[in-house]
Formats: sequence, C-alpha cells, structure tokens
Amino acid sequence: MDAGVIGSGPRRIDGQRKVTGAAPYAADHHPDNMAYGYGVFSTIASGTITGLDLDAARQFPGVIDIFHHDHFPELHRSPASFAQGNKVEETRLPFEDNHVYYEGQFVALVVADTFENARAAARKIGVSYQTDSAIANLDQGVKAHGTRSGSGNHERGDAAAHFDGAAHSIDVTYTTPVETHNPMEMHASVASWENDRLTIFESSQGVVVQRNALAKIFGLPPSHVRVESPFIGSGFGSKLWMWPHAVAASAAAREIGRPVQLVVPRQQMFTTTGHRPETRQRLRLATDENGRLVSLRHESINTTSFTDQYVETCGSVTKSLYSCPNLTVSHETTQVNRGTPTSMRAPGAAPGLFALESAIDEMALAAGVDPLEFRMNNYASRDESLGLDFSSNHIREATEKAAEKFGWQDRNPDVGSMHEGHEIIGYGMAACNWEALKRECEARVSLRADGTAYVTCATQDIGTGTYTIIAQTVSELTGLPLEKITVRLGDTSYPAGPVSGGSWATATTLPAIAAATREAIKELKGYATSDKGDFSDADSDSLTFENARLTHDGQSVDYVDVLKGQRLASADGHAHTKGADDKYSYRSFGAHFVEVRWDPGISNLRIARVVSAIDVGRVINSMTARNQVEGAIVMGLGMAHFEATEFDPRNGRPVNNNYAEYVVPVHADQPPEVDVILLDYPDLEFNEFGARGIGEIGITGMAAAVANAVYHATGKRIRDLPIFKEKLMENVPDVQSA
Ligand code: MOS
Repeated sequence: MDAGVIGSGPRRIDGQRKVTGAAPYAADHHPDNMAYGYGVFSTIASGTITGLDLDAARQFPGVIDIFHHDHFPELHRSPASFAQGNKVEETRLPFEDNHVYYEGQFVALVVADTFENARAAARKIGVSYQTDSAIANLDQGVKAHGTRSGSGNHERGDAAAHFDGAAHSIDVTYTTPVETHNPMEMHASVASWENDRLTIFESSQGVVVQRNALAKIFGLPPSHVRVESPFIGSGFGSKLWMWPHAVAASAAAREIGRPVQLVVPRQQMFTTTGHRPETRQRLRLATDENGRLVSLRHESINTTSFTDQYVETCGSVTKSLYSCPNLTVSHETTQVNRGTPTSMRAPGAAPGLFALESAIDEMALAAGVDPLEFRMNNYASRDESLGLDFSSNHIREATEKAAEKFGWQDRNPDVGSMHEGHEIIGYGMAACNWEALKRECEARVSLRADGTAYVTCATQDIGTGTYTIIAQTVSELTGLPLEKITVRLGDTSYPAGPVSGGSWATATTLPAIAAATREAIKELKGYATSDKGDFSDADSDSLTFENARLTHDGQSVDYVDVLKGQRLASADGHAHTKGADDKYSYRSFGAHFVEVRWDPGISNLRIARVVSAIDVGRVINSMTARNQVEGAIVMGLGMAHFEATEFDPRNGRPVNNNYAEYVVPVHADQPPEVDVILLDYPDLEFNEFGARGIGEIGITGMAAAVANAVYHATGKRIRDLPIFKEKLMENVPDVQSA
C-alpha cells in the first residue's frame, strides 16, 4: 500500500496536460459547424435603448443573425434558489427588455461564421439611448434611496449600553472598493443543441447548478441539459453561478441551428460577470480597563445592483472570532448602477476582516495593549453566536507559532521607530478566519479488471488540486498508485457534486469518494466469496483489501484476477454522502504577520515579509495546500495595496476595466519571504479525513495585517482600501529623528 498518500505532496495529476496545452478549456471546444458570437455592450450605466442601427452589421460578411431585445426567444427566469440548486446572481435574462441597469450590459449579440467577423460586425452596430442619471457609488446610493436590510444579522447582549461609559472605546469607519476577480481564463460558453437537448462547455465552478438553471430558463428537464467544465483557468468566485452570456449563447445556438461559441471580453468581465462590491463598515468597540472587549458593533453597507440584492456579509466572522457578550452585526445594501456583485474569494470575510482586524489593532492601541496580547486575551474559546463549541480551534497556537517565527517580540511598538537604511520598517498582524462547510455529494468509483480505478463526480477542479486529492483518497483506500487512477470531473453526466467554492469541495467530495471506494471494495469481496470466487467458503467481511489484493487466512489474490476469473469488467461503488451536522461550530483559523518597508524619500511601500500560520484541519496534499495559502496571501496583498475598480462618479461608467489599469500584484511585487505554517490538526468531528478546506482563509485578514504594519511604520491609519502610496505621502515621520 502507498502508505501515507494522504498528507503527502504529490504533483497535480492533471499538471502535465495543463502545461503542455493538452487540457481543453471551454473555448478550446470547436464542435462541427460552430458559429461565433460577439456582444454589443451598453456604454451608459442607466437608461433605455431607444434605437439600434443594425444595417451595416447585417451586411457585414459572414453575419448569420443579430439578437437584441426585439429579436430574442421568450425564455423563463431561473428561480435563482441556492436550496433548489439553480442559483444565478443576475436573475434578469439577457435582452429581456430595453432597460439598461449598468454599463457593460448585453444590448445585442452578433453571430457570424468567424470570431473576427462577429467582432467587426458588432462594432458597426449603432445604439441610441435615453440616458438617465446614474447612481455611481455607495455614497450616491445611500443618499438617493437609502439602504435595505440584508441577511446574516446577529445581536446578543446590549452593545450600545456597554459602549457608553466603557474604559476605552473607538468608533471608526472603513471602506473597501469594488474588486474584480480577473481569472486568467475568460468566461466562455460553447453551446450546441441536438433536438431539444442542450450541451454546453462552460468555464464553471458549478456545472450541476448551471445545468439546473439552464433547465429552468429553457423549460427543459435537467436530464436534457449537459454542462461540461473539465478544466478551468480559475474563477475566484466569478464562475460559481451562471451569467447572462451563457444564456445568450445557448439561445442563439438554438435559434440559428448551429453551435455557438461566446467569450466574454476582458472589459466586460469587469461588468457582467460579477465583482466584489464596495463596502462601508462602521466599527464600534469598547473594552474594560483590562483591555477585555465589552461591546462590539459591526455595521456594514454594500453596493448591489438594481436587478438583484447581493449581501456582502462583512460581519460573518465578527460574530464568533472574539469573546464579547454585547455584540451587534448588521448588513445592509444600497442599489447602484453596476452589474450584480457576487462572491469573491472569502466573500464577507475578506472586506469584513480588513475592517475588524484593523479595528482590533486600533482598539488594542487605545487600550494600551500590544495587538498580539490583545488578541490572545480576547479570542473566543467557543462560538458565542451559535452557543456551540468549535469542533477544533488552534488559533492561539497558530498566532504564537507565527509570532515566534516572524520575530514579533523584537518589535519596538513606537511608530516609525524601526528602520534600516532609507527604509522605515513596520510590523503588523491580523487574525484570519473562515467557515468550514460540507455539502451533500455523490460519487462513483470503479475498480477495473485492467488494474485501474475510474472515478467520476460532477464537482470541478478550478486549479486548486481537486483531481489530485481525489486520486490520493482512492489510492489511500485501495493501494493503487496515482498513475493507475483516472479521475473525471466537471460534467453533469457524472454523479452530482458540489460547486467548487466556499472552501467546501475537499470536505464535501472526499467522504463521498471514500464511501464509493468502499462500496466498490465490498462488491469485489462479494465476487471473491461467491460460488465462482477464490474464497467461496469465506464470509466476505472476513476478507481484507490492501495493496490492491484481497486476503483471507494468509491467502491473497490480486483483485484483477478476481474480476478476470469471472469475466467481470469492474467492481463498482456509488455513494451519496450528507452535508455537515450542527453539533459544533466548524471554522478554520489562523494569523498573518507582515513586515512592510516604507521609504519616505521616494514614497515607496513594499511588503517585505509574510509569516502565516493556518489551522484548517488535516492537510490532504501538502504542496497544493501550501500553494493555496501562498496564492491567497498574494491576492490579499493585491487587495491591500493595488486593487480597485473605479467608477466615474458623474455617470457610473467603469474607468479602469482592463488589465493595464486594474493593478494586481506581479512577480516583482511578491514579498521576498512568504512563510506558511500549516498546523495540520485533523478535525475528525467534521469528516473522516479531518479536512476543513483551504481555498479562502488565506486572503482573510491580509489587508488588515498590511494596514496595521503601515500604521506602525508611518503613523498613518489607512481605513480606505487600497493603500495606494499616494495616501502615505504627507506628514511622514522623519527617519532621522525616529
Ligand atoms: Mo469562492 S468566492 O466560494 O469561489
């Protein structure tokens, strides 16, 4: 048996196909006779389409059809229900009417014989509008029509009463901008129909939900829709739920009777495929004279669209991270002329912990306590929002380990006091936190007579390593080496699996894979103990299965020979496992420590060093797990320092909706030292593998750790992300006098 394959760090089993270009992404599919779609997108943020000049485009070579609000089939809306499994974020169908709710909304779709002809023709379409004044940002939204209550609110004790008259208190407001996911692979659909059956290749984090939503929209039984997404160039949440382009491509393909490919251009990926919304968060904290929290209020408002309410649950972590008897968390939304927001890596927690963990730093300083000590004194030891114990919580150890490795004890707490050469050094820290979730899941495992295993599940691998950890699980239980295990994901013709999101794919799929593997082994034992079997006298429960061999009473036989001896192709197992129970509060924990370097002479800020300790239960693959946290840290630095999708306050139009002006960290921005400590305590209350999931936690708290380090270096408390260098240019402490 390949002992210990779980927890080891094998390379991605799909890695070679990906780096050699053999792995097909959505737009790599070219069914026979395929036509190409290209969108025409609104150039106003609010108003009505009053006319479409299509003549030049119609006469353009290769144009097959042009769809718009007066020429598009009647479709149905998806109920957009998470519980029913047909969720979409933008419920309005493309071309439903002539209203424009945001810039970058589909107003027409040209279908032509080539991509180039479709695009050139699309650019010849003239659109006239009646332009209404746009609500361009959160402030304008609140002023124009106030807010609406959101979900996930929580209240315990009396936070207001214990705030007034407390020994120390702060009342501060933080803001975060719109961020855009910007996965490398663009959103793309390749839709084709055969009679009344739709097949669509999509870059999707959730093929089953997209199938169900398309079935609702086209009025089909779900069995008549097949969604395939075997390889994805990431998504970060933008590909969790289907967007209008997939509906447009599917409808166009049915209308013209040919397959249609539609890729969302990079610019419109800033507008019509979701984003992290803008937030404004007010934090009021108070402590007693010993620096113990006595009152905590976290009130947030996020922007949403005029078509749908998306709630960014900024206070989701605030409810349970710290012990505090008097606490209020509230979420509100305000409508603006932007597309509908959606989950982006650690939705709620990423912007929420920027605010909370900045506020904890401010509170600690106000109370005269070291920020590390303040956290150790106030971390909750049980989930006070649910009244439940945590299944497993090692945040104190994570914080201590990271602090020690980072060298927090060498920190001089005086602002601007640490320097080297031209640079002022700042140390900052923050906690990180994410919920652990597990959904129901089905899977099938076949142990085949050719000595291989074949595994199917309609979940996806968005690049995180799901293919690999599934193969590791089958290997662990069968003793088959990884190269003998074929894993097939991302196809609704397989047993239903979860969306690749919420950091729940690992905890959800592995128990189903394991159960299906055990079923297959049980079937195998049944064959071995049947009349024709090698162990016909034995009871099947008395057989053991190890190293791909069945053993009984010291006699062993290769499972392949059992199957071949009876002319059987395979032994098969199918499993359907349940979601998490509510016996415990299941969460993951950690802490980030950041060193920034501020050079006031040339106004340069750089992030020099990050040490993070993460407690996510058992680590299934040490290489892909570390890679997830490292990637999340870099994305967190992007959030802290670079990323903001800007909208013109005069008209609501996006300003930097391109890869040149929406700045993300590049190689030169990577901290020279990133040190990830994985605690690796199995959470066996959560599932048999003890794994809680690792995709999102690493980004939470990062922006606050940077902001806290920036304060320590510069004395500037930046409460509005991102921390552009310009915000640090005035009144910098003099390095000579420090
Ligand atoms: Mo994640 S934001 O659930 O893809």
